[in-house]
Amino acid sequence: MPSPNSDTTGDGGIHIRNVSHRYGKGDNEVTALGPVNLDVDPGAFLVLVGASGCGKSTLLRLIAGFEAPSEGQVQVSGSAPSPGVSAGVVFQQPRLFPWRTVGGNIDLALKYAKVPRERRAQRRDELLDRVGLESTADRKIWEISGGQQQRVAIARALAAETPTFLLDEPFAALDALTRERLQEDVRQVSAESGRTTVFVTHSADEAAFLGSRIVVLTRRPGQVALDLPVNLPRTGVDPDDLRQSAEYTELRAEVGRAVKAAAA
Ligand SMILES: Nc1ncnc2c1ncn2[C@@H]1O[C@H](COP(=O)(O)OP(=O)(O)O)[C@@H](O)[C@H]1O
Ligand SMILES: [Mg+2]
Repeated sequence: MPSPNSDTTGDGGIHIRNVSHRYGKGDNEVTALGPVNLDVDPGAFLVLVGASGCGKSTLLRLIAGFEAPSEGQVQVSGSAPSPGVSAGVVFQQPRLFPWRTVGGNIDLALKYAKVPRERRAQRRDELLDRVGLESTADRKIWEISGGQQQRVAIARALAAETPTFLLDEPFAALDALTRERLQEDVRQVSAESGRTTVFVTHSADEAAFLGSRIVVLTRRPGQVALDLPVNLPRTGVDPDDLRQSAEYTELRAEVGRAVKAAAA
């Protein structure tokens, strides 16, 4: 068992080999994705960006192990991903239990993650502290804002000490200011935890701000159109300075152009 402050487990590397995915049968068959080849280093912050319908969520679900690819192979830490074990996942909607408290939602996740009962309270407090919700543990979900609810969803995804952390357009429904705050927090939480993070978005701004690597997908069936390493600092940087830097501004423009070209 890792120490309470260390979330790194397993190696967290992701290997995607000749992966394609189809939905439906016969005349209704749709090839949503592929073929895609990607190798993601442990601890990387990979952003998948592309137009709506290009297969981003499909690729994320394959990495989470929610579905098996129609063709090819997906491995996380060297084996086929297993739902709930390989990855913590955050969706666009927080999907919490609204009648439970903030703390109660985390407790449940810790229970499912098989954290021993006597360790849960401390672990819950650490997780809520990490997402800035230490004073809201006793509030009901329906009493807190959308941004706070998404913070709870992030804490919940971190509850199981999975080697990877997957987020599917988690801030799309939030106002711009809340979105920026949460982007800053996810950037930091991910760097601190050392987990491999895969973040799906259609926003070039978000991709440029978050990624240590940015992969732009073509329109459906999604294939890798651009694979860009990012050299912006990961820690010890003021987010506002980062957003105003020439490097960020250039990167954002480059990603924006690539997304547009890839969708055409
Ligand atoms: N369960 C499903 N059944 C049928 N088609 C689907 C299903 N999920 C996604 N698709 C189709 O696959 C394509 C890619 O979808 P998705 O991965 O959700 O794209 P994105 O997340 O980039 O918007 C879309 O055309 C979508 O309609
Ligand atoms: Mg999607």
